[in-house]
Amino acid sequence: MRIILVGYGVVGKGVTTVLARRYAEKDYGFNPKIVAIADIDGAVINPRGLSPEKLEEIKQRGYPISADPDFGRPGMAALDVIESVEAEVVVEVTPVNIKNAEPALSHITKAFKTGKHVVTTNKGPLALAMPALTELAEFNNVYFRFSGTVGGGTPMLEFAKRCLAGDRILAIKGILNGTTNYILTEMSQNQVTFQDALANAEKLGYAEREPSMDIDGFDAACKVVILANWILNKKITLKDVDRTGIRNVSLQELEKAAKRNGTIKLIGSIDEDQASVKPTEISKTDPLCVSGVLNAVKFSCEYAGEQTLIGKGAGSIETASAVLRDLLDIRHKLATRLLT
Ligand SMILES: NC(=O)c1ccc[n+]([C@@H]2O[C@H](COP(=O)([O-])OP(=O)(O)OC[C@H]3O[C@@H](n4cnc5c(N)ncnc54)[C@H](OP(=O)(O)O)[C@@H]3O)[C@@H](O)[C@H]2O)c1
Repeated sequence: MRIILVGYGVVGKGVTTVLARRYAEKDYGFNPKIVAIADIDGAVINPRGLSPEKLEEIKQRGYPISADPDFGRPGMAALDVIESVEAEVVVEVTPVNIKNAEPALSHITKAFKTGKHVVTTNKGPLALAMPALTELAEFNNVYFRFSGTVGGGTPMLEFAKRCLAGDRILAIKGILNGTTNYILTEMSQNQVTFQDALANAEKLGYAEREPSMDIDGFDAACKVVILANWILNKKITLKDVDRTGIRNVSLQELEKAAKRNGTIKLIGSIDEDQASVKPTEISKTDPLCVSGVLNAVKFSCEYAGEQTLIGKGAGSIETASAVLRDLLDIRHKLATRLLT
């Protein structure tokens, strides 16, 4: 499987690390090979496969990867790489943008139109155009996978799609954003003000580049869109989610909730009638009541009842493990020649 990696940041580097480690063990019976990497400065291309150690060395010396003396292509845009390099899969891991989903939207559509499967961890294109993108993938006869967009490495989408396949999922509820959960946990357990808890989250590197993405509930709303479309077969986009962030949650409200043995969490929820993200009081004994940066999702099923999955919602190699899961899924689908 020849792979073009677009974006070489936290997740991109995690992907090269995890692929190198797992491939070295040769335990999947498949041969993934990164033949090109494109980032903002240019690209590096080698049809025989790139060496992550060498690229890391170049980065460590303060140069862009396109400065590679043997295979570097300074200034070459990701779109040209996707168009011109022979590969089976594009792994798209550029920064999220919920205004127009670019540059990821163009990268993904270019990949589809040139017959390449896509794996992404980028929520932007899915939040703004998921129904159109899944149709375009089908039209071009390629697979589109995005399990790292919800829950990081925790297989929330797969758990619902596969393990609960024989059931009917009636509703989904969850803590879908680690940063806001960290802030609310700090506020309720340590009586830290919202501003101080946000500053701590930024210091610890938990907050997105743009903190509004987290604290105003946009990140969680993007994940609600993905869950609603992929698991509950809705056709919604970000504008359909009723969204309130955590800016106005006060220490007093948290104290009042604590007296009722409850706490306030930013809950994303989808059922028959609505999709929303809002601060909600839940009982401290609810399985959803997780602390710190953890994520948790509860699926309410017609037959199996309630199932809750808890795990880390982000991280470099954690999210990269979701990319590997998607690559294996595509490989399996290709091997069995089943197009879904
Ligand atoms: N980090 C996580 O734990 C996590 C978890 C789940 C999902 N995600 C999602 O995964 C995606 C990647 O996250 P990340 O943390 O790896 O972000 P990141 O560290 O900011 O890396 C993004 C990479 O994309 C490059 N890039 C920017 N514009 C580009 C363009 N036009 N063409 C090619 N490359 C471009 C950046 O280059 P420069 O650095 O030079 O700008 C950087 O190398 C995001 O959409 C994020 O929301 C992240």
